[in-house]
Amino acid sequence: MAFNHRIKITALLRTAPEQQDITVMGWVRTFRSNRFIALNDGSTISNLQVVVDFENTDEALLRRITTGACLRVAGKLVASTGSGQTVEVHATQIDILGDSDPEKFPLQPKKHSLEFLREIAHLRPRTQTFGAVYRLRNTLAAATHEFFQGRGFVYWHSPIITASDAEGAGEMFRVTTLPMDGTAPRLEDGSIDYREDFFGKATNLTVSGQLEGELGAMALSEIYTFGPTFRAENSNTARHLAEFWMIEPEMAFYDLEDNMNLAEDYIRYLIEAAMSRNADDLAFLDQRLQEEEKALPQDKRSDMGLKDKLQFVIDNKFERITYTEAIDILLNSTPYKKKKFQYEVAWGIDLQSEHERYLVEKHFKKPVIVTGYPAAIKAFYMRMNDGCEPGRETVAAMDILAPGIGEIVGGSQREERLDKLLARMDAMGIPAHEMEWFLDTRRFGACPHSGFGLGFERMVQFVTGMTNIRDVIPFARTPKNCEF
Ligand code: 4AD
Ligand code: MG
Repeated sequence: MAFNHRIKITALLRTAPEQQDITVMGWVRTFRSNRFIALNDGSTISNLQVVVDFENTDEALLRRITTGACLRVAGKLVASTGSGQTVEVHATQIDILGDSDPEKFPLQPKKHSLEFLREIAHLRPRTQTFGAVYRLRNTLAAATHEFFQGRGFVYWHSPIITASDAEGAGEMFRVTTLPMDGTAPRLEDGSIDYREDFFGKATNLTVSGQLEGELGAMALSEIYTFGPTFRAENSNTARHLAEFWMIEPEMAFYDLEDNMNLAEDYIRYLIEAAMSRNADDLAFLDQRLQEEEKALPQDKRSDMGLKDKLQFVIDNKFERITYTEAIDILLNSTPYKKKKFQYEVAWGIDLQSEHERYLVEKHFKKPVIVTGYPAAIKAFYMRMNDGCEPGRETVAAMDILAPGIGEIVGGSQREERLDKLLARMDAMGIPAHEMEWFLDTRRFGACPHSGFGLGFERMVQFVTGMTNIRDVIPFARTPKNCEF
């Protein structure tokens, strides 16, 4: 007989108790009074109460029912008289599938700090908080595919290894098979001769699938990527990972406004999916956040609870402002006048996180889409806006800023005019001869097109209320940290 004859706990908790025989498998969260096991199999945040007939159970077996142990329980499903659950299982047979030494198991049935749990990231999925986060992460991933598939977008796989720096920011991890011991072949000027390398040229892990995504859109008309991306930026913040997942839709025949509408619909779809499918996970995380914020001074606490915040985003359109308007708001703001901003504010600056937070959390109190950024601070592929004042050239960019997170989406209408694109690449020092394949889409059947990238972990942060990005991905990669 096959082994997996079990009911998942999430299904069991919704089953009418009729003394029926059932089998469950899972890990012990707690065992109290030698009688009540709280069993969890990860299918739901709720534990199943298993009642042990300890008088008729072998002492040696009882001693092996410890926090962390893995059990198979056969028993009868009955209505529970205790509080906190409607059904429970009266065990008739308990098998220990895997022991867990209670002296050594790091996850004790008590509150652990998130910092501690990061060090045992291999075990933290067995906590309520991380179970909830990972189930929500899964929902957002599934909902991503549903959303785009539902609109006829083609799931497009951009390469992970590439020779291009899509963002032109130079924050790449090199990929090479050349020896690191100083014996790599060199050119006359002493630099490494990458012609001898595996691919015959210098390659790196992709920072974005966009440029290859554009190639797909120029044939299939609407595509999206959903894959890992890598940035070697030395940003040790609560919003940056060296390896993160990005969703990058790219659409032919979209202008900037179409692009913003799509991004807004997509974000709303994700939140609705989370609210309808993971209500109990969200209720738990909502509570967790309130507890966590109790330790903060009043002015640092969120105005709204997690679920209220998510509902608010569903119910209200995002604010749309231009970069120039954003700068004006900042220049007229109290923190600016009281010199509370650390970074300067002037037309042309890259908005710093303190500025984004002010706009989103204090001024508008909702997600904001900022358009028309200065060309000088944005990537080469963004479309130059026509009719700009000299010295104030802007591009058809749009960033979506979310409360508590800052930038969650970055996107733009793309520069489809070959001459303008070449001029921009030249000005920014991007070698056009290495990008002929990209430029070909502008030579052969170019069209207005747009796209954006949504940082998946930042979205998971937004939905779960987790303040540190390291806590929304199973195994975080950050500077000086690559455990597991
Ligand atoms: O704004 P970014 O750099 O845009 C691009 O990569 C474009 N190629 C996207 C496009 O138009 N197709 O990155 C997009 C998003 C950011 O808004 C942010 O949410 C996330 O990716 N992101 C990061 N998330 C975690 N860790 C990092 N180091 C991130 N860098 C960017
Ligand atoms: Mg960006």
